[in-house]
Amino acid sequence: MSMSIFCVSLTLVLSIFSGTDGYFYHMMRQCRYSSKDLQGIELITSYVFNQAEYIRFNSTVGKYVGYTEYGVKNAEAWNKGPELAGELGELERVCKHNAPIDYSAILDKTVEPHVRLSSVAPPSGRHPAMLICSRNGS
Ligand SMILES: *[C@@H]1O[C@H](CO)[C@@H](O)[C@H](O)[C@H]1NC(C)=O
Repeated sequence: MSMSIFCVSLTLVLSIFSGTDGYFYHMMRQCRYSSKDLQGIELITSYVFNQAEYIRFNSTVGKYVGYTEYGVKNAEAWNKGPELAGELGELERVCKHNAPIDYSAILDKTVEPHVRLSSVAPPSGRHPAMLICSRNGS
């Protein structure tokens, strides 16, 4: 299997509105798989306000990293608190636990698309040629 990334878990989307366009806060949790045997599995949890990611947990790194002053402060606190164990628990409980389910329910049931391109005689004399592209026989 080629190296690919599948995002299977989007756990929390919370929005804070202000004015017509509003500001958006969201947290996104991704399980990233690079092989079926769970080698290199990675949990990424991102905290984003107004399109700026200010904290990220990366299970390969094993801790939170802050990207703004506020993010750095929170990352420091969360790395010492129960949040860190919570993230590592998510890796086991969600990412590793769900992998075989996602593989058998989704990945193993997908097929490579079959594409056929054919040249046919155009119906009128206006076009010099006509190509028909069909996918999966339909
Ligand atoms: C997580 O950290 C590892 C090790 O630094 C890095 O190789 C990987 O790209 C990071 N993943 C993301 C999505 O940032």
